Order: sequence, then structure tokens, then C-alpha cells
Amino acid sequence: MRVTKYNIAEKDCTLEGFDFENVELLRYFLSSAAKADIRQAKALAKDFSKRLKHLIVVGVGGSILGARSIIEAFGAKNVHFCGNSLDFSQFNDILKNLENENYGICYISKSGTTIESSLFFELVCDSTSKENVVVISDQNSPAHKLASKKGFHFLEIPQTIGGRFSTMTAVGAFPIFFAGINFDKIFNGYIHEIKTFLKNKNQSEELCYAGARASEEAKGKRVEVFASFENFYQKLLPVFVQLVGESLGKNGKGLYPTSSNFTEDLHAVGQYLQEGRKNFVETIICSKKHKNSSKIAKKYQKINNIALNSTIEAHKKADNSIVKIELEGQDEKSAGTLLAFMQLAVIVSGFLTKTNPFGQNGVEAYKNNMRKMLNAQ
Ligand code: PA5
Repeated sequence: MRVTKYNIAEKDCTLEGFDFENVELLRYFLSSAAKADIRQAKALAKDFSKRLKHLIVVGVGGSILGARSIIEAFGAKNVHFCGNSLDFSQFNDILKNLENENYGICYISKSGTTIESSLFFELVCDSTSKENVVVISDQNSPAHKLASKKGFHFLEIPQTIGGRFSTMTAVGAFPIFFAGINFDKIFNGYIHEIKTFLKNKNQSEELCYAGARASEEAKGKRVEVFASFENFYQKLLPVFVQLVGESLGKNGKGLYPTSSNFTEDLHAVGQYLQEGRKNFVETIICSKKHKNSSKIAKKYQKINNIALNSTIEAHKKADNSIVKIELEGQDEKSAGTLLAFMQLAVIVSGFLTKTNPFGQNGVEAYKNNMRKMLNAQ
């Protein structure tokens, strides 16, 4: 993986004084407990997929975004997500489509109290037998208690791992394995990137990218546009929008994250990116090798690369600040590598901008208000 910057001046940044060995998230993922948790999730997912054709996953935000994006990127069609909105029609459509199918249910909520997901789980949890239902949550959360009471399967989310950092736990492992995607390879890519970073933090690609973001924000940039020319990586962009927004948008600081799919959006916001206000950083994610290696696919890949280079040239001329993140391929290992890269870059960005990337009081404020208003009904 390689990070290249355009129109962004080199700035000396150091991670001196940051005790990464004590970041609980890294300690967990490098421990044998992480591997054991995944083995347990894999065994249960295997058991479900022997008996069931479909899986309904109920959850919202960090609890489902990683798995949903990866499953969409690999094109699996047997996992259906809901509980990420309060619009009943979404949920209803899924149930209607699965009316004559056998399906399992996977409810993911770290707190076990989030209204959107708990409401839909309550509605759906008795629609299949209890051995087809798994709850993934914190130990002793209301969701865990419900699972014990009803006799559902239970997989634990490690206490120290927050929603948007939890895709490489049972949270992502269970649905991704069920979808038939090789989660082990994704996990290996993820761990390999963490180890690479820890070996050489001050020369890392993560610091290069986080340093660019921080210095551009200090110079007055206010927005970060994540973009990709590749369908595979376009599916992963919502993960990074959420990760960056919820981790770094605090204390009146942070770049506002948004995403664009190129080339489609070059025929829309492309105009703004070229000639509008220059208050943004463009982060373009691409890969060297595409999934499909047929002759015709290779021909299109070549043209897509020309579109990428043409866009970078045009945007460079327009004085845009650009970061290009290049992965090896469109495969499991690259997906894991990118996930670790982004999570680490967010932690590093937090250090550079003096922002705690963990926790999300702003989100909690909305959740608490909603609970109060519902109770007052
Ligand atoms: O990343 C986060 O922490 C959030 O987006 C949560 O995942 C989201 O709010 C859902 O919370 P919970 O998993 O407790 O239902």
C-alpha cells in the first residue's frame, strides 16, 4: 500500500510520546483472545449456513457498516441489513422477500440499547426458532440479558472495542463468514498492517496521510472527499466517512467527511471540485490489480486508470490538495489492510489534533433525547 500526496507540502510530524503499545484496541487485536473470538464466530456462522440460506442482520452505525460494506464489495446477496433506519418499509421489504425462505437473525448492538436496532430486533426475533438467532453485544448488556432469557446464541464484543473499530471482531466475522467470504484473509491483512505500522510508526503511510490531513485542516481546509474509481472500493467509502466523522468531529474540529463515486460524480460534483471553493482535501482510493482478469475487464481497467490519472492531473492544476491511497488489489487482504490503515490513521490524526478518537458523546446526546421523548409518550 502506498500513499502519494499532490499539492500538499511535506511537514515534519512525529509520533514521539504516543504510547501505542497501550492503545487497548491494538492490544486486543494482537492478542490470542482476538483469534479465539473469531474462531468461535466462524464455527457458529458455519453452523448457521449449513441450515439457513439467508441472514438478516439488525444493527446500525459501527455495528454493521464494516460488514455491510465488505459483503457488498464482494457481491454476496444472502445477507440483508436492517435496523439502520426507523422506516418500517425497509424492514418490511426484507421480510416479504424472505417470506418463503429459511433465514437466521443476527442482532448486533454493543450497548444493546440503541432504539433503531432494538425495535426491529424485538419485532423479528420470534419469527424463526431460537437456534437460528444470534446476539452480538457487550457482556451483561440488555441485549445479552435478552439472549440469555430467550435462549439465543451469544457472541461477545470485547469491552474495550467501540462500534466503528469492531469490524474485525465477531461483529464483522459472523456476517462475513456467513456470506461465504474468507474473513480469515481479511483479518490477516488487518493484523499485518497493524504490525507494519508498529514497526516503523514515524515513517508509516498512516502518519504520512494523517499528517497531510492535519496540516491541510490547519491551513483552513474543512472537508475531506473520499473517492474511488472502483466499484469494490466505492462500497467501502461509507465505512471511512463514518469512522472519520464519528471519531474526529469533536470540540469544533475535524474535516467534514463525505464520499464520491468516480467517474459518475465527475459529471456532477466534479465541477465543484474543479472550480468551486478550495476548502477540501480529496482522498482517492485505488488499486493496482482488479478482481476480474478477463481480457475485456483488463481493457476497461486500463481506461479507468487513464480516467484516474486524467482527473488527478486536472485537479492538481486546479490546485486541489490530493492524497492517493493505492492498494495491491481488490481482494480480502487489501480490504483488511485498508481497514487497519484507516483505523490507525484516525488514531494518529487524533494524536496530532489533540482529539480523543474513541467515544461519541454527540451521538449519545441524540440517542438519550430520543429515549426521553419516547418515554414521555
Ligand atoms: O461507532 C459507533 O460507536 C457507533 O456508530 C455505534 O456503532 C452505533 O451508534 C450503534 O451503537 P450500538 O452498537 O450500541 O447499538
